Amino acid sequence: MTLWNRTLVTAALPYANGAVHLGHLAGAYLPADIYVRYLRLRGRDVAFICGSDEHGVSILISASKEQVPPQTIIDRFHAANARAFERVGIRFDNYSRTSLPLHHRTAQEWFLDFHEKGVLRRYVEQQLFDEKAAMFLPDRFVTGTCPHCGFDRAYGDQCENCSKYYAQTELLQPKSLLTGETPVVREAVHWYFPLGDFQQRLEEYVESHAGDWKDNVLQQVRSWLKAGLSDRPISRDLAWGVPVPLDGEAGKVLYVWFEAVLGYISSTREWAEAQGAPERWKDYWCSPDTRYIAFIGKDNIVFHCLMFPAMLMAKGGYILPDNVPANEFLNLQGQKFSKSRNWSIELNEFLDRFPADPLRYTLTLNMPETRDSDFTWKDFQARNNNELADILGNFVNRSMHFAHKNFGGIVPAPAIETDEDHAFLADFGRAADAVADAIERFRFRDGLQAAMSFARTCNKYFNDAAPWKTLKSDPGRAATTIHHCAQAVRALGILLDPVLPETAVKIRGILGLPADALWTWDSIATERLPAGHALGPLALLFQKIEDDVIDTIITGMETAAAEADAARPVEPPSYPPIKEQITYETFSSLDLRVGTVLSAERVPKSDKLLKLVIDIGIEQRQVVAGIGKAYDPADLVGRQVVFVANLKPAKLFGIESQGMVLAASESDGRPVLLAPAGDIGTGSIIK
Ligand code: 2FM
Ligand code: ZN
Repeated sequence: MTLWNRTLVTAALPYANGAVHLGHLAGAYLPADIYVRYLRLRGRDVAFICGSDEHGVSILISASKEQVPPQTIIDRFHAANARAFERVGIRFDNYSRTSLPLHHRTAQEWFLDFHEKGVLRRYVEQQLFDEKAAMFLPDRFVTGTCPHCGFDRAYGDQCENCSKYYAQTELLQPKSLLTGETPVVREAVHWYFPLGDFQQRLEEYVESHAGDWKDNVLQQVRSWLKAGLSDRPISRDLAWGVPVPLDGEAGKVLYVWFEAVLGYISSTREWAEAQGAPERWKDYWCSPDTRYIAFIGKDNIVFHCLMFPAMLMAKGGYILPDNVPANEFLNLQGQKFSKSRNWSIELNEFLDRFPADPLRYTLTLNMPETRDSDFTWKDFQARNNNELADILGNFVNRSMHFAHKNFGGIVPAPAIETDEDHAFLADFGRAADAVADAIERFRFRDGLQAAMSFARTCNKYFNDAAPWKTLKSDPGRAATTIHHCAQAVRALGILLDPVLPETAVKIRGILGLPADALWTWDSIATERLPAGHALGPLALLFQKIEDDVIDTIITGMETAAAEADAARPVEPPSYPPIKEQITYETFSSLDLRVGTVLSAERVPKSDKLLKLVIDIGIEQRQVVAGIGKAYDPADLVGRQVVFVANLKPAKLFGIESQGMVLAASESDGRPVLLAPAGDIGTGSIIK
């Protein structure tokens, strides 16, 4: 096994086009920070690198909507996000910006190196150009009619109706989403990175990590590799970004993803320069005894597991990510985070109301490590009140309060230690190992659960030892209990420090420990506060949160989302184009009759299907109909329907369906049953 001498940890550079919210925090930044804090407690050499991603089309669009320069947008969100990270206790060594000259220089150096080595390719392509906005249109900023299915709101690269991919120039009646104008087709020359050439090396790289990367990451990367990699464009015609550093390339910038990943390197360079050791960044990027861990959300996997490694390979002399522990997504109260729907909690907003640690705690226990997970306000309240306050806070407070009241705020000397004491002390080491093992495997939920299970053990030890009883009957016993409780408070403080850094600082204060004393992971089981050590003043670790506070927040959020929904322009329904013509003969081959529903029931294990028995005059038919979401079976009995009587029987969910009832459906897919408009006998023919 390689002996790592240092660790480089990066967290995805957030776009400086919006405020970081709880989903971002749980996805990449919190796990990265926990990991880094843990490594530091172990005394490891770590560089924790991040910064704002300040280029890309979306920033340009926001700027044009607000009619301000892009610099205004990035300055606003860079400052707000840096502050939010600071407030929530994420301690980057450097939080840089990709708009800095140092980053531009770094990205341009890489481009030129590839160019000079003949790595890059250059192709001419047809692209849509918005003459009014004077720019080529990125795929997401053009809409039109799908060349395959006729859907009239298809995007430039893919149709949301039929899911087919195509080139933006194939769109029918294209329209620029920037100006509403019809764009023209122009030729554009672009630079491409030959990702396909790295297929085999990337396969080897990924498979060499089959045993240690997370399943969700491996699966996604393998499916990209299986589909086959091809050349990727790395330049864009845009007025915002890192200019392509070649003569005759005016107006071209490097594709944001090409240069954003290099932002990790320029941020490390900036950090090294600030330390007065400008070459030191190389220790972290170019030294094989450095381990590189890249924390990201699942939407960034392809760039970090394929594109960036291929770039690092092409450059040569750089290490590759040893692990990319990408998380899935966090939902909010059961729904996706959505800026436009006002369904979000910005980190700064949250921290205006609540301290950081209960949030870090709740998000760690709900971290979307293997699948999407959910943040709910009630869960946040319950975890704060019932776990942090009632388990952790309670133990620290009860035991240290006892020490102040009965031992003058001094750690008492232990008397004879019993089997219970020894068993308790043995748990310190076990807990430290369990938490460490989980964190090192990027299982932060398990790690926190192991730490909290130790907090439960501490409460049990205090309760079982009942020092308030032994104080009179056997004072040596009470002193021994409190001696051990003080050690346990210290152990808990260190075990929880990666997740609850503010609480760890408070615990150090309660123990009367200066910032750097007796506070390492390795000391958890091996060192003790000496007898006679003076404790510090008591302090409340966690404030309980009342029901009405949480209820008001939930109501406020729901109202804001409902208002945003109501304010959104209602989109006109869209209908597919008319099908090919048929002859009257073809139509008349349909046998349509009026039927009456005799009985209706739900098909077990399906919320969509109903089993109906229908009287069609000359006989009864059983059909399975996909109308279960729109109709309650009880409401259907006795209703007349339009029935297709000569449809070949088919089996659905193991039930034979002998025909079909007709329904109309709007673009949202909700079916409405067709019925004769007036009284008519069951079995009547429709033609
Ligand atoms: O998804 C995002 O927010 C991107 N800005 C992440 C970039 S990570 C890296 F490439 F810098
Ligand atoms: Zn389509």
